[in-house]
Amino acid sequence: MIIKILGSGAGGGFPQWNCNGPVSRRAWSGNPDAKPRTQASMAVSADGETWALLNASPDLRQQIAATPELHPRADGPLRNSPIRAVVLSNGDVDAVTGLLSMRERQPFTVYASARIHATLRANSIFNVLDPAYVDRVELPLGKTMRLADHGRDLGLDVEAFSVPGKIALYLEDQAAGPNLGTREGDTIGLAVTEQATGQRLYFIPSCATVDAPLAARLKGASLVLFDGTLFTDDELIKQGLTDKTGQRMGHISISGPQGSLAALRSLDVARKVYIHLNTSNPALIDTSPERAEIARAGWEVAFDGMEIRL
Ligand code: MLT
Ligand code: MN
Repeated sequence: MIIKILGSGAGGGFPQWNCNGPVSRRAWSGNPDAKPRTQASMAVSADGETWALLNASPDLRQQIAATPELHPRADGPLRNSPIRAVVLSNGDVDAVTGLLSMRERQPFTVYASARIHATLRANSIFNVLDPAYVDRVELPLGKTMRLADHGRDLGLDVEAFSVPGKIALYLEDQAAGPNLGTREGDTIGLAVTEQATGQRLYFIPSCATVDAPLAARLKGASLVLFDGTLFTDDELIKQGLTDKTGQRMGHISISGPQGSLAALRSLDVARKVYIHLNTSNPALIDTSPERAEIARAGWEVAFDGMEIRL
């Protein structure tokens, strides 16, 4: 399985357009230790010819331009794309709005939970995806299904599973109580398996806590790409950027007794990679003590253009 990290930043990217915090400032000033990152998305392929996107970020056009594997084939028809499917892990702006760049009469298939499909249906701007070309397929939770586009198998299986999380920011319902109206299917993890080899990756860009079912699922995995939004739960508050904790945003922090470093420490995952890093996260800086702490724990930090083969 070939895996391309198209974008490794959280919603807003790095540096976020209006952020003048200390970490963003390093990137604005062009410091080579603070490499810019577009918003989180990956492309996966079994054959190197047909590709599935895991989330479609608002930076998709730029990400395609930077990835020759995703360009239209020179020997193909006048309209063509190697991207045959998009699999969505949540309904956040950074996960779905790249779909709007995928109009223009190109067949592909969108896979998402029933909840996320309902969100897309409720937003009429997504009608730019003409149903004559674009199929929308529901991912049942906890069941494996083959990824295919208009009957053509991509050689990949996907399983969507619930993870602790939150409804998309723009759908939060303050009147619904502390869970803000969150329901099952609002945040999912994706297991993608290459049919020919059985190689499997986990993509979990948004996750509020590692509960027992998630820990059991990840035990012994070959590759986990995991929510690296914040290094510490209160870093946005400490940096004076917002009054929100990571928990309020539905994101586990990297550090701390409840953090993901601790939660995955004894799960024997062969390769652990943080993705979806927020513009406030000091681990974005290559030379930071936080990055060194991550590396000592056996984790990597994804960067745009990173390629992984399984
Ligand atoms: C998140 O991951 O919390 C969202 O991307 C936030 C947002 O939509 O800005
Ligand atoms: Mn996000």
